Amino acid sequence: MKTNTPMAGGSYGTKIADLYIVHNLAAVNGSSRHTYHAMPPVGWMNDPNGFNEAFGKYHLFYQFYPYGPSWDSMHWGHFTTEDFVKWKLEPTALAPDGQWDSDGCFSGSSVVKGGKLYLIYTSVSADRQTQSIAVSKDGNRFEKLGVVITGDQLPKDCLKTDFRDPKVFKRGEFYYLLAGAMSEAGEGMILMYRSSDLMRWEFISALRRDNLTTRGIYECPDLFELGGTDVMLASPQGYATDGWRYENVQSSIYMLGKLDVEKGTFEKQYEDEIDGGFDFYAPQTLKTRDGRVVMIAWMQMWQRLFPTAKHGWTGSMILPRELTLKNGRLYQSPVREIERYRWNPIRFGNVKIGSRNELTKVGGTKIELLFTLDLGDAQKVGVKLYQKGEHDARIYYDREKDLVIFDRSRMGVEITHDSDEKDASVRSVKVDVGENKLSMRIFLDVSSCEVFLQDGERTMTGNVYSDGDGISFFAEGGSAKIVSLEKYDIVV
Ligand code: FRU
Repeated sequence: MKTNTPMAGGSYGTKIADLYIVHNLAAVNGSSRHTYHAMPPVGWMNDPNGFNEAFGKYHLFYQFYPYGPSWDSMHWGHFTTEDFVKWKLEPTALAPDGQWDSDGCFSGSSVVKGGKLYLIYTSVSADRQTQSIAVSKDGNRFEKLGVVITGDQLPKDCLKTDFRDPKVFKRGEFYYLLAGAMSEAGEGMILMYRSSDLMRWEFISALRRDNLTTRGIYECPDLFELGGTDVMLASPQGYATDGWRYENVQSSIYMLGKLDVEKGTFEKQYEDEIDGGFDFYAPQTLKTRDGRVVMIAWMQMWQRLFPTAKHGWTGSMILPRELTLKNGRLYQSPVREIERYRWNPIRFGNVKIGSRNELTKVGGTKIELLFTLDLGDAQKVGVKLYQKGEHDARIYYDREKDLVIFDRSRMGVEITHDSDEKDASVRSVKVDVGENKLSMRIFLDVSSCEVFLQDGERTMTGNVYSDGDGISFFAEGGSAKIVSLEKYDIVV
């Protein structure tokens, strides 16, 4: 990703941030930086915020701390993009320089109304979380308008300290706002508010009130419609592991159902994990001009060690994904715009895989790799990426477990940090391999790996820190075959 330097301007706090960025860009070590993913110019990035189309471009804001590669008082950084692949750095949008947000401008969303772009965010001050609004006439400079929902508008048994991440959308003539909250008993809640002007809000109902395993909230709710079904996304803290699902300490889930704004209910029909990998959190969606629902998410995870921090930055975003519903499940595919950046195609097929297949022409770390495997009678069959000597990250099918496994334990870098997380190196998902065939579409970008299995039936996302660029296929306990393979360099 190329970073241009923003012009100074805006509020006091955003001006200081932008000057700091300009003066410190050169100090960030480029060795593990992505080339086609959004990431902070300097410092720290977490959740995507305010993902939307306005003024003829797509806007991505994000949780940003410019002054160091760790989480601290939150700003809103800002990018614009035409195609979800090239990201243009814009001036910092919000800084924690107000009386009511002096401890941070936390996550939120945006709405276009009357030709203006409104940011609705969580303002944090003295341990209180309230919802605030800022506005822009040009999509570039934002003026804060103040608090619009206070803790007094919470249900009686909710804590004023955990009330955040407003997502605003319009249904009929009203705007609705979903926010995460916590009851005194520690239940995670999703609350719904309603407004006709974005400034005055009334509480409607709690759409969810659940006992998550540990005291935690549903962070970053999101809601959109796909072919008549309402899809709600949320990122629950401390979600109970269920077999191979929800293995991260914080998970991201989707719920399919029906939102009834009159009754104030969300009738849930199905729930599942969005991504079965390691580094995926706080997803947000927008609707494109041509009607696609595109999702972006933070490509990192809380409670980990962050190896890029020593290079002056931490955190990045996934390659945005198009969402569809198929067979009553959420399917994901990379934004189609990425295909404009394919270079140097390599294609072949019908290659038998033994215990070690080096495909000398198929290396690289800024690539797209697509292939279909005939699983044959192999017990384990898959691909090794970022390979050098003993180091690699591998993705393979394990016949005995009937699972696809992403194993990054050999990358040679320790990232486990929290004792609540048994293992930050191996994740599994189940996909339908009814025809004994498995297809993978993989995107590597220097230190990341995003895998789409069986045309988007499941995805697995993980950062990989390795200086290897080799790729090889392997089959154990039997033989298998590469039915077809394509590889492209991704050059932006
Ligand atoms: C999710 C989150 C949000 C909060 C933000 C703070 O990752 O914890 O709930 O608004 O990050 O940066």
